[in-house]
Amino acid sequence: MARKATNKLLQKAKKSKSDEFYTQLCDIESELRHYKSHFKDKVVYCNCDDPTISNFFKYFASNFKELGLKKLISSCYREQEIDLFNTEETESGFFYEYTGIENVRPNSTDIIHFKGDGDFRSTESIELLKQADIVVTNPPFSLFREYVAQLIKYDKQFLIIGNINAITYKEIFKLIKENKAWLGINLGRGVSGFIVPEHYELYGTEARIDDLGNRIVSPNNCLWLTNLDTSKRHEDIELTKTYYGNESEYPKYDNYDGINVNKTQNIPLDYKGYMGVPITFLHKFNPEQFEIIKFRKGNDEKDLSINGKCPYFRILIRNKRLNEIENSQQVTLYNRNAGKSANTKSIEYQ
Ligand SMILES: C[S@@+](CC[C@H](N)C(=O)[O-])C[C@H]1O[C@@H](n2cnc3c(N)ncnc32)[C@H](O)[C@@H]1O
Repeated sequence: MARKATNKLLQKAKKSKSDEFYTQLCDIESELRHYKSHFKDKVVYCNCDDPTISNFFKYFASNFKELGLKKLISSCYREQEIDLFNTEETESGFFYEYTGIENVRPNSTDIIHFKGDGDFRSTESIELLKQADIVVTNPPFSLFREYVAQLIKYDKQFLIIGNINAITYKEIFKLIKENKAWLGINLGRGVSGFIVPEHYELYGTEARIDDLGNRIVSPNNCLWLTNLDTSKRHEDIELTKTYYGNESEYPKYDNYDGINVNKTQNIPLDYKGYMGVPITFLHKFNPEQFEIIKFRKGNDEKDLSINGKCPYFRILIRNKRLNEIENSQQVTLYNRNAGKSANTKSIEYQ
């Protein structure tokens, strides 16, 4: 029994570890500056954000006028401790609505308590979500799939922080493949670090305490996921290498009719077929230049392999432009031939 309880506690600690990474204002500013045009007259909801401390809330409240926001809502989750011997009432979650005239940081009389804990999946939080146009936050990583699924279900625009591994979740990859979500601007080291609570171990060479006394860790493994358009998403990846003449650098897969490309910058400009590229390709992906075909698996649904060895996770892509050129050439040829046969027929009927 005691062992079971310890396991549960450990699991909970493990889960809450990455759930307690608080986003720094500098990282929010450096991402959000690329999306300013999206926010005019919009209702923004930060649904995993205690408005008394969240830097997401601070960013939007401080830039409320500049962005032309209509309303900002920020809600705080309060985990409910289930303790049979504790007769004291546990604190409920709460939210704060900001319309540009209130105090940037709410005091106790400004906040509205939920009946429940303020879980983003609760009816009360969903009612606020329905009012919102854009959701912006760093949600609990342990609930990332569920979190994104809810945004899609309610057809919301969003800009959220997740772990780079999230790309490998089949639900998230599917959204990226279908162009329903894409990577934001900053990734990995582009997100400088997160504020962690007192009890949290400061690990890694870049761990530090900032001027305000915040404890910061830099996991360097995060990304921004969004469905808000950016100009970067329409920039082509500059291709300089060629496949023809350098075939040995691009071995074919054992279990898929495609070639392996080790680095995004080595994608050959002259290859029309399928190519397996590293997942970091997604950071540079322009859907007008390439199409995403499949993730990681060959025809046999096993990991893509070369001579029996599997390189790191690969994403299968195809150069859209080269294929469009080929398709249009085929159509011209077909039309020409069709024209010829029509002419032949008309000659025959004369
Ligand atoms: C990674 S932290 C980020 C906090 C804040 N969004 C930020 O970026 O600074 C995730 C937050 O989600 C909250 N949280 C955990 N489970 C939640 C749930 N089910 N619903 C809403 N919030 C939750 C945690 O309390 C924590 O504050």
